[in-house]
Amino acid sequence: MLKADFLIFKAQVLTCSSLGKPKKGGEMRQIGLINDGAVAIRNERIISVGNSEEVCRKVRATETLDAQGKVLLPGFVECHTHLVFAGDRLDEFEAKIMGASYLQIMAEGGGILSTVRKTRKATTQELISTGKKRLDKIMSLGTTTCEIKTGYGLETDTEMRMLQAIVELDRNHLIEVIPTFMPAHAIPPEFAQKPNEYVDLICEEMLPKARVYLTDNLPGKPFFADVFCEKNAFNTIQSEKILKKAKEFGFRLKAHVDEFTNLGGTKMAILLGATSVDHLDKISDQEITLLAESSTIGVITPAVNFNLGSTEFANARKMIDKGCAIAISTDYNPGSSPCLSMPLAIAIACRYQKLLPCEAINAATINAAFALGLGEKVGSIEVGKQADMVLFDTRDYREIAYEFGSNLVEKVFKKGKVVIG
Ligand code: NIG
Ligand code: FE
Repeated sequence: MLKADFLIFKAQVLTCSSLGKPKKGGEMRQIGLINDGAVAIRNERIISVGNSEEVCRKVRATETLDAQGKVLLPGFVECHTHLVFAGDRLDEFEAKIMGASYLQIMAEGGGILSTVRKTRKATTQELISTGKKRLDKIMSLGTTTCEIKTGYGLETDTEMRMLQAIVELDRNHLIEVIPTFMPAHAIPPEFAQKPNEYVDLICEEMLPKARVYLTDNLPGKPFFADVFCEKNAFNTIQSEKILKKAKEFGFRLKAHVDEFTNLGGTKMAILLGATSVDHLDKISDQEITLLAESSTIGVITPAVNFNLGSTEFANARKMIDKGCAIAISTDYNPGSSPCLSMPLAIAIACRYQKLLPCEAINAATINAAFALGLGEKVGSIEVGKQADMVLFDTRDYREIAYEFGSNLVEKVFKKGKVVIG
């Protein structure tokens, strides 16, 4: 007899199990479906998974839950957010409704730079308390792990305060937070005429400082650096310089590429061994092949296109058919995606990017976990993994993608404890 703290049985369980690597191409359809399934938890970990009869026979649990008519999934892993910032962009929202484009607003000093002005003025405590509220919301929507980027400081002091806020959120929130350092999010106004000097500041001052802070404060946790490789942001040469330097300092790499313009950033980032390349709306066929052959994960951000009122989405169908590993993220941020809901991002990806619900769920769990260097720890329901799981009030997992605009989450388990419901 196995002793368990908690046993959930009679659920439709989707294990998303992966043999220790991200799911590529056709593997993204393999969801590990157990129709009458059970999961046993002890000391924060999953100790048994299988059909209910088999698991119930070998496990004695302190607490049990009959989950008939419900669906159990690994907790969503949110692998790309800009969740720490001050203020809002409501005026810009109206300007966009009246016809302004995201890049136009950005070129006129709005967009990211308007959030930078507000974030520089905010106290670290304000950044932490608004961040906490947002993490509470995403947890109620089924997310149990979340990456957060800096990038609304664009000066050493505010970038470091953002990092401090991110570290505090990780320490004080049930959601595990993964930090990404992104001073290369926009060229700050002070450097508008001399962007290369800002690149040097990032390489010589910011990256080394951030690395010391992160290794001192979050020992053992993966940490990333990211760049926005785009017109009016960082060109490919500048992006490459920053990423190379970051890699030397021990950061794992991510890159915002091909969101509006193909500058060759996808190829550059893959060749540098980036863990993920994100957005990919304008990826070329040649780069799709390169991505498929690499160990880099392609992160799609369907809520961005939806929010910008665009019907031109990254061609994730083609990428999967060509053998890429795809992850889904909301890219939550105040400008291009004020969306905290992974189920909504999934719903959009299924409709406009033609992912099947099973592919979208793998993209939002196990592949997203690998996009954060956490594929061995979270993202699937497998023996030995951390018990991060979500119970949905539906009989059929496809409904998580099918229904949208409401919340089907009934219970959230983080490290084996019920934290919602
Ligand atoms: O991923 N593209 C750059 N960064 C964000 C937008 C951030 C913002 O508008 O504040 C993105 O879309
Ligand atoms: Fe982003």
